[in-house]
Amino acid sequence: MKYLIGIDVGTSGTKSVLFDTNGKEIASCTEEYPLYQPQNGWAEQKPEDWWNAVCKTLKYLGSMATEGEICGIGISGQMHGLVMLDENNEVIRNSIIWCDGRTTEECKEIEEIIGHDRLMEITCNPALEGFTAGKIRWVQKHEPENYARCKHILLPKDYIRFMLTGEYATEVSDASGMQLLDISARCWSREVCEKLDIDMSLLAKVYESPEATGYVTEDAAQKTGLKAGIVVAGGAGDNAAAAIGAGVCKTGKAFTTIGTSGVVFAHTDKPVFDKNGRIHTFCCAVPGKWHVMGVTQAAGLSVNWFRNTLARDVSYKELDNQCEEIKIGSDKLIYLPYLMGERTPILDVNSRGVFFGLSAMHTRAHMARAVMEGVSYSLYSCVELLKDLDIDVSDMVACGGGGKSKLWKKILADVYGIDVKTLVSPECAALGVAILGGVAAGVFASVEEGCDICVAEKEKTEYESSRHEEYMKFYGLYSKLYPALKDSFKELSRL
Ligand code: XUL
Repeated sequence: MKYLIGIDVGTSGTKSVLFDTNGKEIASCTEEYPLYQPQNGWAEQKPEDWWNAVCKTLKYLGSMATEGEICGIGISGQMHGLVMLDENNEVIRNSIIWCDGRTTEECKEIEEIIGHDRLMEITCNPALEGFTAGKIRWVQKHEPENYARCKHILLPKDYIRFMLTGEYATEVSDASGMQLLDISARCWSREVCEKLDIDMSLLAKVYESPEATGYVTEDAAQKTGLKAGIVVAGGAGDNAAAAIGAGVCKTGKAFTTIGTSGVVFAHTDKPVFDKNGRIHTFCCAVPGKWHVMGVTQAAGLSVNWFRNTLARDVSYKELDNQCEEIKIGSDKLIYLPYLMGERTPILDVNSRGVFFGLSAMHTRAHMARAVMEGVSYSLYSCVELLKDLDIDVSDMVACGGGGKSKLWKKILADVYGIDVKTLVSPECAALGVAILGGVAAGVFASVEEGCDICVAEKEKTEYESSRHEEYMKFYGLYSKLYPALKDSFKELSRL
């Protein structure tokens, strides 16, 4: 028997999953770690924590692979994070991660230096605080002594690849989120790097996602309990990885994932982009193809924050049950999910979370339901933007942690006005990169073949038009709240 491993280096923890070559989950292990927020709007993690979590989870999976051989590994992870290594390959500073918002000044500079239209032409996206280029410029400016020591710049999952294989490598889907990649040509943009004063020799070699990028070293084998020599595929950024695990590898297919962030993602054959930059256009994990996606910064993060801050005494399941008793619209309570600023559609790093309409009759369950509804409204605005670009989103899958909640699936289907499907294996990102590992190992002839073999639909949550209409009344008001508060958010950030 042959096994494949998918590693997902997430924000709340790393999940590693052992699959057979039909995509059946054999064993899974998660190890959590902290998120550091040294200032309001900043977010950092320790790459060493990711690596320790990977070692621990792989050791467990190795012990479960008793009936055969692990033949391929794929790595996925949170996108955009900046990992800097010195000449001895030591981590120089904590990683500044995707939801950190400190780089507004640097983003303005990037737009000025390259010019908005040229930046859109090359990177298909405007300069955004989440992306890596601004973080690199921030370190250049604020920590020149750290930048001077930097010999390698890697993304989170690519740091794990380095620790496993000794190779400095990345792949097109994750590299797209650095804002240094020529998205149409699928290679680093010399023009962007030179203009931003980023030495291209610091950057990793770019592969397509299913390509072999290296092999587990003897040293990594000792630390992880794996055998040396297993092939490690390029892998993918978490969303491009989840697309493969959700079977979204052809035009006409879309998915919503609710992890720490929430994403609505659709496959495209061409690099289509929104001229206002409200959705991201990146290379996808299928060689020669692209995707568009809208991002809600704090999706699962909103629910985790709510439960950890106000509902520690109940489980997520109990909280779901209590929310189910509350009617649509949470008895006139609306939540804006901007705990970490927001990307789609408002692109405002200064925005913050809001409960609008609190009344003395509201209970904790009303607030919890309002949180789920508010995140779903935000994701619906991503759906609307994709529709505006003429992208068909009617074939929609839900995955990630939120995709496991029956209530959340129903809210999503009713808010979207689209039936939402779920899959046999909900660990889409891990399955996606395990499939990529399978292609690199020669188990599958192509990504599409891997999807056909490994991805299976489980059930469909149908929407009800009367409920959709009811939700749309609240969505109408939800959409008016940000414009009304925009200036106040700016004022708050300056206090
Ligand atoms: C995508 C994004 C997040 C992270 C964390 O642009 O920033 O989805 O990848 O999951």
